[in-house]
Amino acid sequence: AVTEPTQPSLSTENSQTVQVTKDVTILYGSQTGNGQNLAEEYALQLEGKGFEITLSSMNDYKQKELKDVRNLLIIISTHGEGDPPDNALTFFEFINGRKAPKLADLNYSVLALGDTSYEFFCQTGKDIDQRLEELGANRLYPRVDCDVDFSEDASEWFEGTLISLSESHQVSPEGVPAASVNQSTDTQSTQYSRTNPFHAEVLDNINLNGRGSNKETRHLELSIEGAGLTFEPGDSIGLYPENDKALVELLLNTTKWDPDISVPINKQGDLLSLREALTTVYEITILTKPFLEKAAQLTSHNGLNDLLAEGNEEELREYLYGRDLIDLVQDYGPWETDVVEFVSILRKIPPRLYSIASSYQANPDEVHLTIGALRYDSHGRQRTGVCSVQCAERLEPGDTIPIFVQRNPNFKLPVQTDTPVIMIGPGTGVAPFRSFMEEIEELGDQRKTWLFFGEQHFVTDFLYQIEWQRWLEEGILTKMDVAFSRDQKEKVYVQHRMLEKSKELYEWLEAGATVYVCGDEAYMANDVHTTLAAILQQEGQLSADQAEAYLKDLQQQKRYQRDVY
Ligand code: 2AM
Repeated sequence: AVTEPTQPSLSTENSQTVQVTKDVTILYGSQTGNGQNLAEEYALQLEGKGFEITLSSMNDYKQKELKDVRNLLIIISTHGEGDPPDNALTFFEFINGRKAPKLADLNYSVLALGDTSYEFFCQTGKDIDQRLEELGANRLYPRVDCDVDFSEDASEWFEGTLISLSESHQVSPEGVPAASVNQSTDTQSTQYSRTNPFHAEVLDNINLNGRGSNKETRHLELSIEGAGLTFEPGDSIGLYPENDKALVELLLNTTKWDPDISVPINKQGDLLSLREALTTVYEITILTKPFLEKAAQLTSHNGLNDLLAEGNEEELREYLYGRDLIDLVQDYGPWETDVVEFVSILRKIPPRLYSIASSYQANPDEVHLTIGALRYDSHGRQRTGVCSVQCAERLEPGDTIPIFVQRNPNFKLPVQTDTPVIMIGPGTGVAPFRSFMEEIEELGDQRKTWLFFGEQHFVTDFLYQIEWQRWLEEGILTKMDVAFSRDQKEKVYVQHRMLEKSKELYEWLEAGATVYVCGDEAYMANDVHTTLAAILQQEGQLSADQAEAYLKDLQQQKRYQRDVY
């Protein structure tokens, strides 16, 4: 297992060949790893151009050094309801706190990552950008807010920032004739990545839930034989899904668009038939405010402008929820604009990330995923999760699906092989813990392990039951507590089981255990957090503030890690 690198040993070979070397600090805050990946890539490129780079996650950065920094690049994602990611929290509080330094000598630029389908799009990036300005810092280059298909916008931000950095240091933006840059693109083309996904064959795809369950949870086994992909417990796989063909036909029928017309699918102008493009490239299942704003400019129908009018936010929020492109066309169409122009304002289908449920050490040719099929009724039609229901209904052994590995340095087994681990993962949140256990078994780690699992019903929903019971019998899993919420009158959740075991949990924590929480963020992870604080108050005789400080300290030590969605 690795911990998050704070100061990767980037080569500085090229720095002798340029006249002016300058220091640039790159700080990232990233929940899923996208921000960190970009930060590492830009660090390498800047090094290749003769800059001296300090690269760090925000939480690992020594805050008091900030006042001496001259050039700062921030790459920051936004989480949940406009919140900073876990590994940016302390930095965020620091710059917003009373002790924040004046930063009049600082040049900076912010790259914000987010998702326009959330109301507080890129909020943390906006907040940091504004706060640095308040502290007196100078913007090198305007902030760029990226949507889920961030690659092109992020590159534009980097190019722009690079020119500003180079101008302020009289270095040509070309910098050192970029042998190193060419090299890095060469190696990228032979490696599978987010932009060059591997087409993995499906080996097996089974429903883990029994007959009569309210849930359908797929266990997907993919072959990565020969792909050269590696991963660690806690990492995720990105899957590129396709839209449901039946939904595409419904859209084509509703719009009366010609399915065979050619439409561009990227800035390079590659073409696909409209039907193909709507199936494999463009998102048709989610409406966002920025999209509606663009669509409103392409029609003379005034209703959409009324919906978007100031003061109408509540109505707009209600409209966006549970509706898709077909609803929009039915409610506000037809659009007078031509289809090519209309399609150009659609978002690309973003890849979906799933926590890996298997261990590379135990099984290097395969990767296993645990995927809950999402189905619900809304406005008179059944709606389905694009990727999860493709996996449930339209992905059979022998089929292939494009995938990439997304590292997650914020969810890693302790480096010490005897550190105890407490794993809290109801529902599909259990996936990474199957990976943990396979790895621990394979490597023979001598650590104590404790699983808290919850689902609706014991009989139909105990995901991977046989495996947990075997690990328990063999002593590889030390303890297991399960909460089946609907097997009795009163709801019983994982946090209730934690409270029942509060004394022992406290002892594990005091003995140095690391706590992992995976699964639903809005309810479960918050309730588990509150429960951990309650246990600390009760067993450690701490005040509410002291308990929060204890948890914050655990987080800082990477002994409290969350993978929540
Ligand atoms: P429920 O659906 O019966 O309410 C996995 O989905 C399990 O997590 C289910 O048993 C579900 O219970 C439960 N769950 C729902 N909300 C939760 C919460 N706030 N805290 C913990 N578990 C929760």
